Amino acid sequence: MNQSDVIHVELGERRYPIYIGEDLLKDSDLLASHLTGGQVVVVTNETVAPLYLSQILDALASKPCVTVVTLPDGEQYKTWETLGSIFDQVLADRHNRTTTFIALGGGVVGDITGFAAACYQRGVDFIQVPTTLLAQVDSSVGGKTAVNHPLGKNMIGAFYQPKAVLIDTRSLSTLGDREFAAGMAEVIKYGLIADSAFYEWLLANKSLLKNRDPVALKQAITRSCELKAEVVASDERESGRRAILNLGHTFGHAIETFSGYGAWLHGEAVAAGMVLALKLSSLRGAATEHDLADLEALLSYFGLPTGAPVDMSLGDFMSLMALDKKVQDGRLRFVLLEGLGSAIVVSDVTEQELSRIIA
Ligand code: NAD
Ligand code: GLY
Repeated sequence: MNQSDVIHVELGERRYPIYIGEDLLKDSDLLASHLTGGQVVVVTNETVAPLYLSQILDALASKPCVTVVTLPDGEQYKTWETLGSIFDQVLADRHNRTTTFIALGGGVVGDITGFAAACYQRGVDFIQVPTTLLAQVDSSVGGKTAVNHPLGKNMIGAFYQPKAVLIDTRSLSTLGDREFAAGMAEVIKYGLIADSAFYEWLLANKSLLKNRDPVALKQAITRSCELKAEVVASDERESGRRAILNLGHTFGHAIETFSGYGAWLHGEAVAAGMVLALKLSSLRGAATEHDLADLEALLSYFGLPTGAPVDMSLGDFMSLMALDKKVQDGRLRFVLLEGLGSAIVVSDVTEQELSRIIA
């Protein structure tokens, strides 16, 4: 691979590479270069396993102890109970502290595997091998790991960075259109919060992207990872700037919890949430009607929702958003735009403003 296929997340002694390319799943040398011991745990799910597990296992053929944990598929299984089932199998196979966990799948598998790696014997190495667009551009990078609680999404977890992220862009060929669109929501987010030129590029290249043109897609993934890596390196544990990555998420998490985990894909809820965030920004004069119309058209083009569930009231939003991790001292925090390509976090949004955007 050439240098341009590698981005580094600059976190000092926890610095790690993100590799982006075709057929990386088959690159046994690349994978091996990030494994320290002879023990490996591959965590995947019942949908991804038949598609890509054999490629990873071929690449691990020289390892004497490989345990495969195949989880049921779905956000509703991103739970404490599923986490326990991973430990059951890993302990039964006597994995020690030199083992490496590999997350092979979308964001659900990545988040739960990362959390399992953070907890197992107080922390073992892990590698992210994301296979959805959302996981490739967002969840596999930055070390946020978690499981859901019935009272709130991602409420139990840890910041725990992987040793490496291997993005095989070819794995997107089997992804359903709905899941692909959900990933595009996060790609669009990066343009809105951090790079207006990238946002313009997305508007101009939406048709190539929707058709999954490999060159355009790799460009979108690479730019998204660069932007995420830069934000994470500047504020790993979200004490400040990293919160801008949550554009639309305060609303989105409330939508996901309201609808029941799994009913809306995370990216779909973020899409609807970004429209609400832009409406708030527009109330404050930081976005125009034109910006809003462009965003709605772009999201719709990918088949993404542009509004909250019709039966979700302001009261539903208020009670669910009160549980958001971004609540500080009883005040809700929202990410708003200052203009295209620039975002800020505010904590002074009034219920009156919310009532104007949540019909
Ligand atoms: P997902 O993991 O549920 O994957 C979506 C669907 O695609 C699943 O059915 C999965 O089995 C299937 N799939 C995965 N790869 C496939 C492939 N190559 N071909 C065919 N099907 C495939 O959902 P997601 O959108 O990847 O991730 C959403 C999760 O990520 C949420 O739990 C969200 O909270 C989390 N997330 C975490 C972060 C973070 O920073 N840690 C950021 C964003 C989202
Ligand atoms: N997805 C938000 C973050 O990683 O901070």
